[in-house]
Amino acid sequence: MTSKRLILNPLAALARSCRSVSLVTPARHPYISLAMSDGSATTSFRHRHLLGIEGFSPDEITLILDIAESHVEPNRQPDKKRSLMRGRTVINLFFENSTRTRTSFELAGKRLGADVINMSVSGSSIKKGETLIDTAVTLNAMHPDVLVVRHAESGAVQLLSEKVNCAVINAGDGSHEHPTQALLDALTIRRRKGKLGGLTVAICGDVLHSRVARSNIQLLNIMGARVRVVAPRTLLPAEIERLGVEVFHDMRRGLADVDIVMMLRLQTERMQGSFVPSTREYYRFFGLDYEKLAAAKPDALIMHPGPMNRGVEIDSEVADDIDRSVIRQQVEMGVAVRMACLELLGRDTERGNGPALP
Ligand code: NCD
Repeated sequence: MTSKRLILNPLAALARSCRSVSLVTPARHPYISLAMSDGSATTSFRHRHLLGIEGFSPDEITLILDIAESHVEPNRQPDKKRSLMRGRTVINLFFENSTRTRTSFELAGKRLGADVINMSVSGSSIKKGETLIDTAVTLNAMHPDVLVVRHAESGAVQLLSEKVNCAVINAGDGSHEHPTQALLDALTIRRRKGKLGGLTVAICGDVLHSRVARSNIQLLNIMGARVRVVAPRTLLPAEIERLGVEVFHDMRRGLADVDIVMMLRLQTERMQGSFVPSTREYYRFFGLDYEKLAAAKPDALIMHPGPMNRGVEIDSEVADDIDRSVIRQQVEMGVAVRMACLELLGRDTERGNGPALP
């Protein structure tokens, strides 16, 4: 059975299962000042890595969204290449399969002029701690500037970040966090609604297994939105209220007057045992169709991080409704947001390349 407890400190559990090696002295650069990509304002960013939304301030989130916004139009032009990261190396290190997130980071790095390498590692479940650290050490010796990491274990990306000199971006760790997804969702919402604060957002479906939900709940709360989760009891972690959400088990009630309907994929690959009676039954009660959507505001936006299970968590027509669904815009904003994150963490800053290896 998958644990239903809230993952508040995923690292502690994972760290116990891995040997304790300290390869580098963590760089002490808590505060980075830099100019924005359009050369205008100078602002501050306190983070060496992007491991999660937790710990970010509203100003830092706004900074990332503003930089991302500056990439949206250039990304629509025939010549998309910029030189903000020329000479830098980005490694996409994916321990878990992904097409869209990896492609999005790859495009983002290339459009900034960086050299981008993709590495897919299939980990043996018994030795996964060892594999993670060994791989991190090996890659660290090649002096990458940014490591983009996806891993099936919650906390794995943070553990890896403690073993390397370069910046680390979490591209999804287990059911813990997926910060760039929440940022791209925020950019999509802000572009359509003009703000995040004051909106009511319903996050619906498999919250239990969803790192997207966790990152979004945190970001939306930080930015002053009201967050609801709508799901069957079996697909909600215990104590979810502690994250600052209102809980509903009925779609019509949960969607009443919301500005945003954010659907989640039913993550059957993370389920051992039965969490829903059948996908048909699930669709009947929790699948988004026009009838349930009618409870939301008439101009409510429909979102989904993809990949979608059409006919399971969302009706196909609703997903493709160009007046309501912003699912394709989310994909577009993904590249802009990842460019902003790479630029912020991987550019020449006071941080330099961190301490030299012994
Ligand atoms: C999400 C993920 O991997 O967590 N997808 C993605 O980043 N493209 C959501 C999901 O898999 O359902």
